[in-house]
Amino acid sequence: MDYQRVARSGQVPDGVVRRFFVGEVEIAVARWAGRVYAMSNYCTHLDCLLSSGHATEDGLLCSCHGSVFDYHSGEPITPPATRPIRTYPVRETDGQILVRLPPDAAEDRPRRRRPESTA
Ligand code: FES
Repeated sequence: MDYQRVARSGQVPDGVVRRFFVGEVEIAVARWAGRVYAMSNYCTHLDCLLSSGHATEDGLLCSCHGSVFDYHSGEPITPPATRPIRTYPVRETDGQILVRLPPDAAEDRPRRRRPESTA
């Protein structure tokens, strides 16, 4: 899949994380030290929105219980989260932030907020 425009560069200033939607896919976009990162917006601990957290020197901090996720790999650096978040290829050109989502990105929904299966 091609890169898709997500936001203007100015919408994600340095040290900030914001929430965006690409179709039905909810992502967090953060900038640290001038570089932009894109990832799932759902913490793998208890599904808090990572866009409500903070961009830090070490990674993206979930404000609910303090896990920090590596910007590149999505691996949790600090507990309580034990599983990585998904990270997405991102690039910035001509003042635009573009993200490439995998075909199954829409399946990356919060586990605990999913509707109950009727099957
Ligand atoms: S929900 Fe993110 S650390 Fe608990």
